[in-house]
Amino acid sequence: MENFPSVLESIKDLNKRQIDGVLNLAHKLKNRSDTRFSFPNKTPIIATSFLENSTRTKHSFEIAISKLGCTYIDFDAETSSLKKGETLKQTLLTLNDQGVDLCVIRTSVSNQLSEFKEQPPIKIINGGDGTNEHPTQALLDVFTLIENNISLEGKVFCIAGDNIHSRVGHSLIELLPQFGAKVLLFGPKEYLPNITTDKNITITHSRDEVLEKADILYLLRIQTERHGNLKSIENYSEQYGFTLKMIEALNKKLPVLHPGPANIGVEICEELINSKYYLGHEQVRNSIYLRMALVQSMLQNGAKNIGFEENT
Ligand code: CP
Repeated sequence: MENFPSVLESIKDLNKRQIDGVLNLAHKLKNRSDTRFSFPNKTPIIATSFLENSTRTKHSFEIAISKLGCTYIDFDAETSSLKKGETLKQTLLTLNDQGVDLCVIRTSVSNQLSEFKEQPPIKIINGGDGTNEHPTQALLDVFTLIENNISLEGKVFCIAGDNIHSRVGHSLIELLPQFGAKVLLFGPKEYLPNITTDKNITITHSRDEVLEKADILYLLRIQTERHGNLKSIENYSEQYGFTLKMIEALNKKLPVLHPGPANIGVEICEELINSKYYLGHEQVRNSIYLRMALVQSMLQNGAKNIGFEENT
């Protein structure tokens, strides 16, 4: 097993071999009828700490942890001593003292987990931090494409919508070029970086250009909760939203992904969500296997007292 980082904050924390290892393990886990594991020395204890709302990430980790046979702790920030002023670092050290092996953290503060990298208080997986990164979402998105036999090599992967506030967008930009994809960012200028010096990334404000050039379309919700004083875009859906009609009119089968939650009628219409082009439901289903693989990989590495043995 390749050395895994103790803190997985960013896609940049994994090398390509580790990424491929996680994707292969996720595929194996998905195709097993029995995903039970046994632990000869100790049953790992895993906590999730969601300091910001979540449906998909939180529950898929919870299910993944349970399928792996680990003990699950749902750390509730609202009733915890964080509310008495305890720092996140002291909280994580306390969980470590209690025997927790790994904590999945979601926070609204970008880069909040960076401070733990030098001296990790506990193993950490980033479940999404502010506008910075959402590495597990990006990995499960690529896993979903691979599971559908959709190659990324030489393909144009368009990320459409509120790009500057999207943590998964930022993780995808790091991940996709490693699979040979070119990234096309689309949206109004308010939601896009001004310039990019990255040769793998181009920017467009034209939906027609997206429909012509994109091989894969990834739609993003407008993250108004992170906008501060940014003015909302009038009639967004008319210029930047996507409908089933637009996709059906193309001479190609364009896969459409969305990390969720979607704002139906804004960036995507309901007919498109219900169509054969939409992989959003598969993304959710695959998230369990990808997160199982990631948790297993993080736990196995460097933890001599934790050995996973497949029940045969
Ligand atoms: N994709 C995603 O992070 O969704 P949740 O906010 O529901 O976890």
